[in-house]
Amino acid sequence: ATVKSELIECFTSEEPFHRRKVSIIGTGSVGMACAISILLKGLSDELAFVDLDEGKLKGETMDLQHGSPFMKMSNIVCSKDYLVTANPNLVIITAGARQEKGEMRFNLVQQNVAIFKLMISSIVQHNPLCKLIIVSNPVDILTYVAWKLSAFPKNRVIGSGCNLDTVRFQFFIGQKLGIHSESCHGWILGEHGDSSVPVWSGMNIAGVLLKDLNSDIGTDKDPEKWKNVHKEVIASAYEIIKMKSSTSWAIGLSGADLTESILKNLRRKHPVSTIIKGLYGINEEVFLKKGITNLIKTRLTPEEEAHLKKSAKTLWEIQKELET
Ligand code: NAI
Ligand code: LAC
Repeated sequence: ATVKSELIECFTSEEPFHRRKVSIIGTGSVGMACAISILLKGLSDELAFVDLDEGKLKGETMDLQHGSPFMKMSNIVCSKDYLVTANPNLVIITAGARQEKGEMRFNLVQQNVAIFKLMISSIVQHNPLCKLIIVSNPVDILTYVAWKLSAFPKNRVIGSGCNLDTVRFQFFIGQKLGIHSESCHGWILGEHGDSSVPVWSGMNIAGVLLKDLNSDIGTDKDPEKWKNVHKEVIASAYEIIKMKSSTSWAIGLSGADLTESILKNLRRKHPVSTIIKGLYGINEEVFLKKGITNLIKTRLTPEEEAHLKKSAKTLWEIQKELET
């Protein structure tokens, strides 16, 4: 007799069915920020990690496992073998190179496309029916690459995209007005990066459109220089990377936010990357910010639509050179 056999009466030999399994590829700063955010929100029954760096993979896994008594979740597993990711509801991809100080996200495209060419086939082999959230940068282009390589339907491949830019926009607006960012309703669309598009025409607090209070808002004519808020959004990543080498916490929380919407099928709106061909006069297969399950046709002013088309062109110029 053992302690276990004396303590526990087994009723079934069936494997527990993991209702809500999330696999995270890449246990770096972003992957672990996503993981802790998902765990603390109690969103998953099982987390499975994969990383090339076995030390980091096992170290991060053990460190989280030891915190299990504080978290309502049953299982954290890891392996360099993608088999560990099998049968997830969702796979979040944060693996890949990140920007060095002062580097643009686009500089990462060749290196990370090469990584995706190997990684996506391993993920699809074990998870033909999962949903993919792409976080690695340049996220809009890598979301397109993941869609092409996986051959998944477009609604099952999304990029985190402007989910992060938008919450930064809301934060800076809230700071300027002394209002909590959650009450600042506004969107940033387009590329996750330097050509993103702030939708000033829709920015509102409790339904009051800021452009009704200041018709020049977001333009160079505006005496209050609200346009600088968008400049702060664009500068955020570069400033944080200069200070702490990477951004992680806000994108981790953003990843958990998207995970929650998907696992609970909340049908919330998120400015994420999905194929936008055919909208706003954009005829290329680019991935920009729209909804997860339905396209929300945000009303844009002619200027905003022109900026969105310019943002799409920026991405297409890079994307059309890729062999996927
Ligand atoms: P990191 O260097 O801390 O972690 C990357 C991890 O990927 C490392 O642990 C590395 O071993 C692993 N890895 C590399 N190649 C791999 C492969 N072929 N298979 C499995 N694992 C592999 O980098 P960090 O800071 O976590 O950033 C990760 C990515 O997320 C970067 O591309 C970064 O630019 C991006 N990012 C995207 C954001 C967004 O808003 N979309 C925000 C912040 C970061
Ligand atoms: C960001 C970069 C790293 O934090 O994509 O926006």
